[in-house]
Parts: sequence; structure tokens; C-alpha cells
Amino acid sequence: MERTFVMVKPDGVQRGVIGSIINRFEQKGFKLNAIKLMSIDHALAEEHYRDLRMKPFFGELVDYLTSGSVCAMIWEGPNAVANARALIGKTNPVEASPGTIRGDYAMDVASNIVHGSDSPESARREIGLFFDQELPMNPIMGFMQGEPSAETLH
Ligand code: GTP
Ligand code: MG
Repeated sequence: MERTFVMVKPDGVQRGVIGSIINRFEQKGFKLNAIKLMSIDHALAEEHYRDLRMKPFFGELVDYLTSGSVCAMIWEGPNAVANARALIGKTNPVEASPGTIRGDYAMDVASNIVHGSDSPESARREIGLFFDQELPMNPIMGFMQGEPSAETLH
């Protein structure tokens, strides 16, 4: 079982499609492990996308990510990283196939609605950046960070 970090970016939160995106991950078979709505400052946005710091659009990317709330999530499943990337679609919505999240919800590379980790190593790093608590694997159902697991509720 693998974990990946997924984030609905500010344009996705603003447009009210968090639920639709969660629905796609659940339909695919992912289990939600943690979720929180939060705002991110420039330091976190720069650290999150540090591999892109030399790109000409880096400043624009950081401004975009800090322009409003994001929804940070941890999803679990077999090959979670690769399965999430397939569900999300290509970086540029122009190239993303219909049926993928970016193919169906976005038009512009500068506001492409959702982020997904690009490797298991990136997923571990990003989960550590956005979530300060390591949560146990939960094979039954996802749960909110910091809340009791399904077992302790019964
Ligand atoms: P993420 O899942 O968000 O990491 O996207 P990705 O892995 O498909 O692509 P990559 O990591 O290479 O780029 C990160 C993000 O930078 C993209 O998702 C876009 O939001 C943004 N980005 C990429 N290319 C451009 C560009 O040419 N202009 C602008 N403004 N943003 C870009
Ligand atoms: Mg990336």
C-alpha cells in the first residue's frame, strides 16, 4: 500500500469542486487518510515546488498557490502515486485527456486545479511538509487528521 499527497489548488477550492475531485478518488478506489482546508504562505509554496525554482514561471506559480485556500489530502492505495497522476491527467489541460480531472475541469496550465506527487519520495516529503502528524494506515475508511479512527468510534 502506498500514499500520495494531493492538493486541490486555490482555483479548485474557489470553483467549489473539492467534492467532485474527492468523488473521483473514491470512485477509483483510493482511501482517504487525511484532509484539511488551509492557506499556505510563500515559504511553504516555495518549498513545496522547490524543484521548479529556476523556472521562469516560479513567481507566478507561488502567487497562484498562495492566492486562496487549498485542500490538502493524503490518499492511500496500491501504486497510489502513479494512479493519482493518471486520474489527474497531464500538466497542461490542453493535453490532458477528457476523463481526467485536468481534462475535465481546467483550461490553462497556470491554473490546473489539482496537484499530485510525482514519486513515492516526493509524496513522503510533501506529506511531511503539509501534515505534521503521521497517521496509521486505515484499511477500512479514511478519517480526518487528529480525529479518532473508525475503530475507536464503535
Ligand atoms: P503538480 O502536480 O502541480 O506538481 O503538476 P505537474 O507535476 O503535472 O507539473 P510540474 O510539477 O512540472 O509543475 C508544477 C506546476 O507548475 C503545474 O501544475 C502548474 O500549476 C505550474 N506550471 C507548469 N508549467 C507552467 C507554465 O508554463 N506557466 C505557469 N504559470 N505555471 C506552470
Ligand atoms: Mg509536479
